[in-house]
Amino acid sequence: MPRVTIHKRGEAFTDDVADDSNLVVRAGIRKFPWPHLRYGCGMGKCGKCACRVLSGSEHLPVPNWKEERVLGERLAAGFRLPCQLWITHDIELAQDD
Ligand code: FES
Repeated sequence: MPRVTIHKRGEAFTDDVADDSNLVVRAGIRKFPWPHLRYGCGMGKCGKCACRVLSGSEHLPVPNWKEERVLGERLAAGFRLPCQLWITHDIELAQDD
């Protein structure tokens, strides 16, 4: 069961999620990391869910074309779109306001 930590506003929030969880889908049904994760479209278009991956990026798939289009140079800085990710391993994310 992956353990997810999200850093926001100087605080860290942690919980376990089922294998293969999408964090934006979970937030949409009011499960962790709601309300700590900002999100919008859920479809890789708006960029509102963008987070910097602090640890666990080695377990993520390569960015898809939506992440490449929305994040651009931020990809190289470690940003990903959680709405495009299905979590199978522990991960630590940071989201700015
Ligand atoms: S919620 Fe819109 S890009 Fe992820």
